Amino acid sequence: MPCNCCEITDNAFSESEARSELKNYRRHGPPKQTNLILEAIRSLELKNADLLDIGGGIGVIHHELLEDVAREATHVDASSAYLKQAKEEAARRRHSERVNFIHADFTDVASELPKADVVTLDRVVCCYPDFRRLLEAAADHSRRALALTYPRETWYLRIGFRIMNFFQRLRKDPFRVFLHPVAQMDELLKKEGFERVSLRRLFVWEMTLYQRVV
Ligand SMILES: C[S@@+](CC[C@H](N)C(=O)[O-])C[C@H]1O[C@@H](n2cnc3c(N)ncnc32)[C@H](O)[C@@H]1O
Repeated sequence: MPCNCCEITDNAFSESEARSELKNYRRHGPPKQTNLILEAIRSLELKNADLLDIGGGIGVIHHELLEDVAREATHVDASSAYLKQAKEEAARRRHSERVNFIHADFTDVASELPKADVVTLDRVVCCYPDFRRLLEAAADHSRRALALTYPRETWYLRIGFRIMNFFQRLRKDPFRVFLHPVAQMDELLKKEGFERVSLRRLFVWEMTLYQRVV
C-alpha cells in the first residue's frame, strides 16, 4: 500500500505508554483479551512451535508462549517504543536469543519472512486501514493456526471509535482506529484455507482462533 503506515503507527505509541504497559504486565500478568489468545493457542497442545507475533506490542504473547508452547518467535512491530520494552522484557526472561525483533509494517516485509506454525495479531487489525492486505499476509504465513483479537461490531464501539477519530483529527494526528467488518475478515480467512475453531467475547474485544484445514 502506498502509505507511510509504519511512520504514522510509530508516532502513535509513545515510550511512556509502552513503559506503563510493561509495568502493568509485570504486576498483573497478561491483559484479559491476550489471555484469550494464550488459552486458545495452548488448547492446541503444540510443542516446539514457531510463533509469528504481528504487532506484538510489549511482547506478552511471546514472553508467555516461549515458556511452554514455542521454541522461537518473530515479533514484527511498527512501533519502536513497544519493541524497546519487548526487548527489555525478553532479555530479563533470558529469551533474547529466541526472538527475532523486526521494526516494520508487517505487510512491507512479509515476503522476506518465513512461515510459522502459529500467527497472532492481538489488537492489531484495528490499527491498520487495510485489513485485507494485513490478514492475507498473516494467513499466508501461518502453517497451522492464527489467532486474533479485534473490537466487536457494537453500537457503543461505533460511537466510541468515531469520537476517538474525531479527536485525532482535531489534534492533526493522522493515526486512526478502525472497526473492520467481522464477517468479511472471517470470510477472507476461510478463503485462505482456515476454519474457525473458537470465538470468545469480552465487552470490547472478540478473540477468534483459526486452524488451517487446506
Ligand atoms: C494496540 S497495539 C497492541 C499491542 C499488543 N498486541 C497488545 O495487544 O498489547 C497495536 C500494535 O500493532 C502494531 N501494528 C499495527 N499495524 C501494524 C503493521 N501493519 N505491522 C506491524 N505492526 C503493526 C502497532 O505498532 C502496535 O504495537
